[in-house]
Amino acid sequence: MTETSEQAARSAAQGPLAKVRVWDPLIRIFHWGLVAAFAVAYLSAEELSTVHEVAGYVVAGLVAFRLIWGLVGSRYARFTQFLKGPPATFSYLRDMVGHRERRYLGHNPAGAAMIVALLLTLSATAFTGWLLEDETRIAMLPDLPQIIAPAFADEDGEDREYWGGGRGGESAVEEAHEVLANLMLLLIAVHVGGVVLTSFRQRENLARAMVTGEKRAPESGDIT
Ligand code: HEM
Ligand code: HEM
Repeated sequence: MTETSEQAARSAAQGPLAKVRVWDPLIRIFHWGLVAAFAVAYLSAEELSTVHEVAGYVVAGLVAFRLIWGLVGSRYARFTQFLKGPPATFSYLRDMVGHRERRYLGHNPAGAAMIVALLLTLSATAFTGWLLEDETRIAMLPDLPQIIAPAFADEDGEDREYWGGGRGGESAVEEAHEVLANLMLLLIAVHVGGVVLTSFRQRENLARAMVTGEKRAPESGDIT
């Protein structure tokens, strides 16, 4: 038997409930580790505690790992496997509205766009947090363009401290850090909403697949 007919015979024997491994163990540890670290960082934020900073650094470390794994990881972990341009993403969203989207074994184009948004926003949140930890880091930032600077100047029109906030005021960096953290909540709500919707549409629990690593074997018309 050739390899292909062997594979076909095997999946026919396995029947429609056959499973295939999609998410490797490191992706799954990354995902649930990220959920936990983000939750700890967000919930400990008010106290400015070591816990907050450590959890924030764990988030940053996990994101860094994911960027490397996106280049050298297993098939469905690779960016080249799932990153699609805006036209493919919008066309997938249009198909979703029309209830005719195809099933992807890996990430679908809308999920992939969300992954980019999550990773970028997480990086920016951790970076602004890192800046806040030490004033000298903020001092290294380039000056704001003159058109924006007055908005952050203190009441004497002294604009040298706009990044750092001057006398007790909330600095631009602090504000950015908080806005980014809250933007994450919005993205997470859309992310989880997308996971639930797709799970119903495809009659497959995608959250569980992120735990076990396995998904239903591809059927005809699915994109592998
Ligand atoms: C309990 C809530 C959550 C559930 C049920 C969930 C579920 C999932 C599922 C099923 C996927 C795979 C999507 C697909 O099939 O294409 C995924 C991917 C992803 N999720 Fe979540 N998620 C949750 C919370 C979060 C949070 C809080 C974050 C960020 C802090 C996050 C970040 C990501 C990222 C970055 C990926 C891409 C995975 C990869 O390929 O590395 N998720 N999530
Ligand atoms: C990436 C995950 C992170 C999230 C979700 C997050 C979230 C937040 C939030 C929501 C606040 C505002 C708290 C308030 O209401 O006053 C905050 C404040 C703060 N965060 Fe983070 N943060 C993260 C990472 C970090 C990191 C890596 C550091 C430093 C190493 C850091 C340092 C700080 C500091 C110093 C403040 C207090 C700012 C102030 O004085 O108001 N954060 N963070």
